[in-house]
Amino acid sequence: MHLIKLGGSVITDKSREKTLRKDVLERLAKEIAASGEKAIVIHGAGSFGHILAKKGRLKNGFQGEWQLEYFSKVQRDVRQLNLYVLSALIDAGLRPVSLPPSMMTIYRDGVMEHISKELFELYMQIGMTPVSFGDVVLDKERAFAICSGDHIMSALSSMKGLESAVFVTDVNGVYERSPNEEGAKLLDVIYPDSEIASKMVREDVTGGIKEKIRHGFMIAEKGIKVMIINGLVPGRLEKALKGEEIIGTELRWKKDD
Ligand code: IPE
Repeated sequence: MHLIKLGGSVITDKSREKTLRKDVLERLAKEIAASGEKAIVIHGAGSFGHILAKKGRLKNGFQGEWQLEYFSKVQRDVRQLNLYVLSALIDAGLRPVSLPPSMMTIYRDGVMEHISKELFELYMQIGMTPVSFGDVVLDKERAFAICSGDHIMSALSSMKGLESAVFVTDVNGVYERSPNEEGAKLLDVIYPDSEIASKMVREDVTGGIKEKIRHGFMIAEKGIKVMIINGLVPGRLEKALKGEEIIGTELRWKKDD
């Protein structure tokens, strides 16, 4: 069984509000189906969530009534994206079931306190593909919080039978320097003490990759194979799920793993 995070930067155009990359989403859904592997699919929000979440300053919780409108709108929009993902998976021959975080996770002071893992397990047992996503959720201290897909990935990493966690992004993996810089080298493997990993975590090159690396290592610590791959290149997700060699960055907990 595999955990797959379809990043918002892959399945949406992050610069334009509520813009789906339908062709990419459909291809990735087909790749998951073609791999023949069991999976839980988590997707990010991309331009269906981040733009309004920022305008409504939802990340740090309640500051004023005016934010509730943004809470509602972001929840509505990420559900719309979720429906697109469900349709793509159904068309690819899978049997997805939607598990919205607002209905099965609770946060406290910005930290996930509860997630209903049993729901994921039971749906898998009856042959369904659980699908969850980045959402706005309840927070016992701050009224609400942003639950990212990366949080859900690490929260589910203690599930039985888990072989790998694949973070599907719009870059080949983790680079030694910014991938936009000429000659930046892709790193095949990084460790928690790798200079590049700690540098990226410290300097927060992009919020996205920092969180991914942090949550990725929390999964790797449990002995699960963790990969960051490029979903814009056809075939990589399917190969990753089949355990074949591909271009990407593996996050390893220990040097002798
Ligand atoms: C963000 O989820 C959720 C909201 C903004 C509501 P993610 O952090 O998983 O989304 P991406 O992958 O960065 O788009």
